[in-house]
Amino acid sequence: MFSSRTPAQLLANKLTLIIEQKILTKKVIIDLTQSNPTAIDINYPEQEILSAFANPKALSYQPDPKGLLSARAAIVNYYKLKGIFINVENIFLTASTSEAYTLLFKLLMEPGDSVLVPVPSYPLFEHLAQVEGVKSISYPLYFDGGWHIDFYVLKNVCKKNTRAIIIVNPNNPTGSFLKQSELTELIQFCKDNKLALISDEVFCDYPHYDDTERVNSIAQINEILTFSLNGLSKAAGLPQLKLGWIIINGQGECFHEAYNRLEFITDLFLSVSSPVQHALPTLLDLAPIIQGQILKRVLSNYSWLKEQIKIESVCRLLPVEAGWYAILQVPKIITEEELLLELLIKDNVIVHPGYFFDLQTEGYLVVSLITKTDIFQMGVNRLLSRIDRLIYL
Ligand SMILES: Cc1ncc(COP(=O)(O)O)c(C=O)c1O
Repeated sequence: MFSSRTPAQLLANKLTLIIEQKILTKKVIIDLTQSNPTAIDINYPEQEILSAFANPKALSYQPDPKGLLSARAAIVNYYKLKGIFINVENIFLTASTSEAYTLLFKLLMEPGDSVLVPVPSYPLFEHLAQVEGVKSISYPLYFDGGWHIDFYVLKNVCKKNTRAIIIVNPNNPTGSFLKQSELTELIQFCKDNKLALISDEVFCDYPHYDDTERVNSIAQINEILTFSLNGLSKAAGLPQLKLGWIIINGQGECFHEAYNRLEFITDLFLSVSSPVQHALPTLLDLAPIIQGQILKRVLSNYSWLKEQIKIESVCRLLPVEAGWYAILQVPKIITEEELLLELLIKDNVIVHPGYFFDLQTEGYLVVSLITKTDIFQMGVNRLLSRIDRLIYL
């Protein structure tokens, strides 16, 4: 039933073996793929976080398929501060955004149905769909100085058995937001094809600058069936606490049917632990302290990187509107895989190849901007010198 290993998985295995050997010989590895916010020297308000879990209420079990009202009310407040108004009854807690996807695939699709997923983007969609017996169909985003949905291709790849389209807003790793004009076209496309719209908004708290053209969230859109996903993993830099949420919206019979069925599915699992639900109001109050530090790191690493690329003009840094990643376009003198292996073997640097995120052509590397600044600078310097040596020596 499951396909054999993808090139990305085979490469990951090769890299893991090399890394293990390097660790055995006590080599220091510079990791430019770090995406774990708890491993990058952020000053978490530790006492406040731990105290949030010392709530005696967490000792009793009050199962609710949507999650505790107090936790959902805290999410309403999180959106209110962004000027977005959500009905507390439209929120369903989940253990993570990844789990939210699988719940929505169970809700919206029968085995054999399909879902439209963007490329380049978060690389797990194909696997998340596959474990639910659902087919993922890629639709491209194209780059012309900014990233846009290719509506022409999108309309052509949509099938009779397609039930939903996923957008990642802002997208990972392109760091691009959906624009207002694209949303209008997307809503019409969903109406024409009777599709639900699923929007992954986990990076919405990390815009690099303001822009009135962008869509910050679709959580209030109810002309079609919509699901907006987010969670503590990125919003509070606390992936280990395992709490995400779905906001469902829509109209009429289709909305009520989906709502009741989602309630039925979440009732089967009741997967979110009580302690984290009770802690959520405090955790969301603390979130800006954590977000602020991560965003500061991201912005300073990006602006330093931009300065280096000015000097090292054989590479190009793609613009970023939001999020934790940057894409570097590098000369195609060797393949991405060969470059990755050179960097790891000779320079002890790990970086993501563009194809890991389904960037459509060779010649791209993705670096994590949340990396500790000294490590980031050392890793990027080695990367740029390696490219120089490949070109000029
Ligand atoms: C775009 C995107 N969505 C979802 C997730 C997973 O989030 P969670 O930890 O809530 O499952 C990630 C993780 O990096 C992500 O990049």
